[in-house]
Amino acid sequence: MHPLAEELNSILDKTAAGRLLSSFGRRIYFPKGIIAQSGEAKKQAHRANATIGMAYKDGGPLMLKSIASFMPSFSPDEAVAYAPTAGLEEARLAWKQEMVRKNPSINGDAISLPAVIPGLTSGISYTADLFVDTDQAVLSAYPCWDNYALVIEGRRGGVLKGVPFFVPGRGLDLDAIASGCKEAAKGGQLRVLFNFPQNPSGYTPSIGEGEALVNIIGEAARGGADVLVMVDDAYFGLFYEDSLKESLFGRFAGLDERVLAVKIDGPTKEDYVWGFRMGFLTFGSRGMNVETYGALEKKLMGTIRSSVSCVNTPAQSIMLKTLADSETGKEKAACFRLMKRRYQAVRAFVDSRADHGILEALPFNSGYFMSFLCKGISAEKLRRELLAVHGIGTVALGPYLRVAFSCLEEEQIPGIFETIYKSAGEIQVRGL
Ligand SMILES: Cc1ncc(COP(=O)(O)O)c(C=O)c1O
Repeated sequence: MHPLAEELNSILDKTAAGRLLSSFGRRIYFPKGIIAQSGEAKKQAHRANATIGMAYKDGGPLMLKSIASFMPSFSPDEAVAYAPTAGLEEARLAWKQEMVRKNPSINGDAISLPAVIPGLTSGISYTADLFVDTDQAVLSAYPCWDNYALVIEGRRGGVLKGVPFFVPGRGLDLDAIASGCKEAAKGGQLRVLFNFPQNPSGYTPSIGEGEALVNIIGEAARGGADVLVMVDDAYFGLFYEDSLKESLFGRFAGLDERVLAVKIDGPTKEDYVWGFRMGFLTFGSRGMNVETYGALEKKLMGTIRSSVSCVNTPAQSIMLKTLADSETGKEKAACFRLMKRRYQAVRAFVDSRADHGILEALPFNSGYFMSFLCKGISAEKLRRELLAVHGIGTVALGPYLRVAFSCLEEEQIPGIFETIYKSAGEIQVRGL
């Protein structure tokens, strides 16, 4: 084991984070190499900084004219310079400030500074690198975003335990979630991944259900288990009904010394920048302080440095300017209203077919999607028929058919949903 890894491990050993580390998590460290030395030089090398693999002229990074012409308002530092391993300090501070503003239940003084990561997927992947080992279980909703299985099982060799989270027509199956967590916690460790608004159901818990989830996690911790709670807030903010309007991260972070909460969020969906490839990862645990957060951040920086090295600078610079722009709030509110109208059009249509015997909607009230449980017909057959005969693209996930209403114009919605219901009926009649 590298001495720097040993040093970080000894700082973390007394925390839930330290006890939850995977073998990769124990091994990884942030070297005192090029990046660390270059960081030191940035502050102190007043004569010449000959540390980093970039090219400078007249005190700034070289930039080709054509690149500059696409980013006319950016300095070379904002456009082409390497960003620090954990991201531009100003972007991290601005995101944290926004996070606390949007979620008053988060105590900004008791969490880490969000680190910039290359998209939310990498946040899940890095968290799994650090905290999930071969054969270890991670509980999540069934159905869930299909990439969770690729990360937890394909990449990490763990086991994604799908708990049927949803009761059609109602909400969360809290008994199933509680017993899944209780069972997993028996081994002394519990790893859970929550994602609300959820993909693919489109569900966000009610305030009471949120409280129940906090109690379930608290009970596991009080029972002696170390708990990792990953909070995937990809679709944060798109709440159309009377549900939770804050991330549960703040509650988990303040809950118990045995709970390590990891918030994975970012502008991908919230700010409509899917291809930017940037997100944020924040740690929160009642048992942690500046020193232990610092050690954990070094582990994360080692994970970033050893994979993508750092995240793309223009995306961070643009996000920083966007957060500071007084028009952003108004424009995002207009986007929200557009999405909400689409949700309402879907809601009205689905409610009018509540007695349909074949397609049963999972509870939905938020986000980009809704999903049908296909009863007595194959979701994949329905998907293929919708595509081949009607030119409508949807996604089949096991027995579920997911519809991304975020991609549909409001006027299209009744016609498209009529076709979905009709096709399901025809498939059943044909006995497919
Ligand atoms: C639940 C969920 N989490 C994370 C992501 C990935 O986000 P990103 O594109 O930032 O990697 C998605 C994307 O579809 C998602 O649905």
